[in-house]
Amino acid sequence: MTSTPQDHRLATPWSRSLGLRVPVVNAPMGGVAGGRLAAAVDAAGGLGMIGMGSAGSVATLEREVAAAGDTAFGIGLVDWVREHETGLLATAIAAGPRLLSISFGTDLTWVPMVRAAGIRTATQVYDVPGAHRAQDAGIDVLVVRGSEGGGHGADRLALLPLLDAVLEIASVPVLAAGGIGSGRSLAAVLAAGAAGAWLGTGLAAAEESLLPENARRAMLAADSTHTVVTTVFDEVLDLPWPPIYPARVLRNDVTDPWSRPEFDEERPTAEVLRAAMDSDDVTIAPVDAGQGVGLIRHVEPAATIIERMCADAAELLGR
Ligand SMILES: Cc1cc2nc3c(=O)[nH]c(=O)nc-3n(C[C@H](O)[C@H](O)[C@H](O)COP(=O)(O)O)c2cc1C
Repeated sequence: MTSTPQDHRLATPWSRSLGLRVPVVNAPMGGVAGGRLAAAVDAAGGLGMIGMGSAGSVATLEREVAAAGDTAFGIGLVDWVREHETGLLATAIAAGPRLLSISFGTDLTWVPMVRAAGIRTATQVYDVPGAHRAQDAGIDVLVVRGSEGGGHGADRLALLPLLDAVLEIASVPVLAAGGIGSGRSLAAVLAAGAAGAWLGTGLAAAEESLLPENARRAMLAADSTHTVVTTVFDEVLDLPWPPIYPARVLRNDVTDPWSRPEFDEERPTAEVLRAAMDSDDVTIAPVDAGQGVGLIRHVEPAATIIERMCADAAELLGR
C-alpha cells in the first residue's frame, strides 16, 4: 500500500518515530491477535501486536511469531502469565518486537530490562497514579485504557476523562484505548492529543484474527449495550487475575445467570466452562468485547477497517 495524503494528516510524532503510516496499533488480544493479524495491520501501515493472554505460552508465542513472517510486529503479555510461564518474556525479547507491552501487574522492573535490550515498552494504565508509576519506571509509551474497552482492565474511568487527566501529566506519548471503532472516535482521541489509538474490539473480528467462528458471529450480532464487566469466568477457572482487573465481555447465560437455572449457585463448573470454551459455545464461554462492538457489522480484512477509519478521521480533522 502506498502512503496517501490522509496518512500524513493523521501521523503523530510517535507514529513517525516508529515508521508507521497511520497512528493505529492493534491491541495484543490473547487467542485473537496472532501473527496473521499483526502482519495485516503492519501491511495497512499500523503496528500489529501479537497477544498472549491467560493461556499464553512459549510454544504459542513462537507459533504466532512465525505466522507473522517477515513483518514488523509488537508483542503483548499479561503480567501474571509472564511470571508463571518460564521463558515467555525471554522468548518475547528474542523475537525482537518493535514494542513490548506487559499489562495487569504492579511490578514494573521488566521495563528497564526490556529497554536495555533496545525494545520500546508499553503498559496499560487506568488513572493518573498508575501513569506516574509507569513513567517513573521508564516506560516509553502509556496506553490509557478506558472502562469501555473489551477484555481485562480496571473498571475505573471512561476513556475521555482518563485521556484528559493523563495527557495533563504525561511526559511520554500516550495511546488511547477503549471504545475506538470508527473514524469519529479515532479523530476525537487524536484531536485530544493522543499519539495513536490502540484498537481491540474493532479489529477482533477482522478476517485475519484467530477468533473462533461462533464468537465472531456473536460479535457481529451484538449491539453496544450487550457487554458487561465481570470476574465470574476468572473465578470459576481459578485464574490468578488481580480482582481489580475484571473483564468486559459479551453478555451470555453465565453473566445473566437467571437464564440458566441448572447452574448451581448461578455458575457453571470449571469443567463445563472449559468444555464450552473448547467447543466455542458462546452461550457459556466468555467473548471479550468492548462497547464499540455495536459498530462491527461485517467480517472484513484489517486493512479495510483501518483504511476506512483513517479516511473518515482525516476528513473530520480536516474540516
Ligand atoms: C478479545 C480481546 C482480548 C484481549 N486480550 C488482551 C490481552 O491478552 N492482553 C492485553 O494486554 N489486553 C487484552 N485486551 C484488552 C486490550 O488491550 C485493550 O485494552 C482493549 O481492547 C481496548 O478497548 P476496545 O476493545 O474497546 O478497543 C483484549 C481485548 C479484547 C477485545
